[in-house]
Amino acid sequence: MPVQWAGLSPELLLTVDRDGGERLCAQLERQLRDAIRSGRLQAGERLPSSRELARVLGLSRGLVQDCYAQLQAEGYLVTRVGSATRVADCAQVESVPAAPAPDAGPRMIADFRHGVPDLTSFPIADWLWATREAARTMPTADLDYGDSRGSSALREVVAGYLRRVRGAAADPARTVVCSGYAQGLGLALRALADSGVRVVAYEDPGAPATATAAAKAAGLTAVPVPVDEAGLDVRQLEATGARAVIVTPAHQWPTGVVLAPERRHALTEWAARRDAYVIEDDYDAEFRYDREPVGSLQGLAADRVISIGTVSKSLAPALRLGWLLCPPVLAEPLTGLKRIADRGSPALDQLALARLIESGRYDRHLRRMRTTYATRRTALVSALSRHAPSVRLSGLAAGFHAVAHLPSGTDEGVVVTESRARGVGLYGMSACRSSGVASPPQLVLGFGDLTERAIIEGVEAVGDLLLGAGS
Ligand SMILES: Cc1ncc(COP(=O)(O)O)c(C=O)c1O
Repeated sequence: MPVQWAGLSPELLLTVDRDGGERLCAQLERQLRDAIRSGRLQAGERLPSSRELARVLGLSRGLVQDCYAQLQAEGYLVTRVGSATRVADCAQVESVPAAPAPDAGPRMIADFRHGVPDLTSFPIADWLWATREAARTMPTADLDYGDSRGSSALREVVAGYLRRVRGAAADPARTVVCSGYAQGLGLALRALADSGVRVVAYEDPGAPATATAAAKAAGLTAVPVPVDEAGLDVRQLEATGARAVIVTPAHQWPTGVVLAPERRHALTEWAARRDAYVIEDDYDAEFRYDREPVGSLQGLAADRVISIGTVSKSLAPALRLGWLLCPPVLAEPLTGLKRIADRGSPALDQLALARLIESGRYDRHLRRMRTTYATRRTALVSALSRHAPSVRLSGLAAGFHAVAHLPSGTDEGVVVTESRARGVGLYGMSACRSSGVASPPQLVLGFGDLTERAIIEGVEAVGDLLLGAGS
């Protein structure tokens, strides 16, 4: 699809060499021909008017008109009376061959992918209101390069919010706004590497691919540490010799267990004793159904915990907004690293998020979504009890994913592959294990971005497979 430019003529990257031997008209023709043949100018795309192009290149209008006429005669351009000159439909001769259309496969009934909130519920009206308010009231100075930590308005609001809702010891001066958890983790690991840390531990099961890739990028070695029903095994962490660990204390990814109180204390005690740091991934704390959210670990040991928050689950991943709560000694290094990375996150989006939170619209959205996800969770539980009663679910107290325990002997890989052939996207726990083994057979079922109907139909379509029929 060519770009349909509106208003003024688009600019074209053309040059003229007045000192070379080639005639100016020939130069222009050659460059336009090349641009069309290579696809840089696409079929249907509008060219600047001859008057405009002549002005920009410092040429006579007649010369440009002659050039356009020549290319029209050659079939590269088309001109209709009263309309702009455009690239002819069949002018592209060197266009890149179109990639074969991907195999559409069966109709998708339900994709139980995890990590994605209900995108259709994004509060677009509230976001528009917040963006408008932010743009309307934004001081001109906020359009300049600002504080690399982020807008002071957002840091104040986020810190207040985290103190209130997460029990965090949040200080706006030591809060750094970043592009979601992904950037926050990268910055934290780099800061720790700069401070002398060599090994970082991560939870197993967890997100081994993310942890090892981020560690490698920071020059660190990543080692897995097992998780049991009380969360990360701190004794095994001790044995690794690591001086940093990435954890999901409020709702362990992906098992859903909560880090037990004695483990929380053991972990912060380990960090203090070993001069180590805990990177807390506080990714979906907002959505807890059966009891109040578990407080942030950072509230227990603000000098040893780097807490990373994100709006990827509460609003949408595409916003790419998150924050780091930094221990005092790491606040400056992390601010410096953020400055080097991108000089700060986009100001208008930060101000809009601040308005959304302080207006109460963010809380209202979260309340609405809690009800939505709770209903979807109920739909998943009842659909499984109907179509695959021997499949046990765990990790359901918070967030919008659950772990399905398949009957022993079931082949996790077969279930995933055969389900896909039936139009149902399922994801095995093996991808979350550092060893990659598929035993015991388990699935991580995301239900955030699925309607109740899709959940019910999806489970119905694969119920027999979940009971081991395909293995
Ligand atoms: C465990 C975990 N933490 C955090 C995130 C959020 O990452 P980001 O803020 O970069 O979107 C995800 C996204 O899926 C996740 O799975």
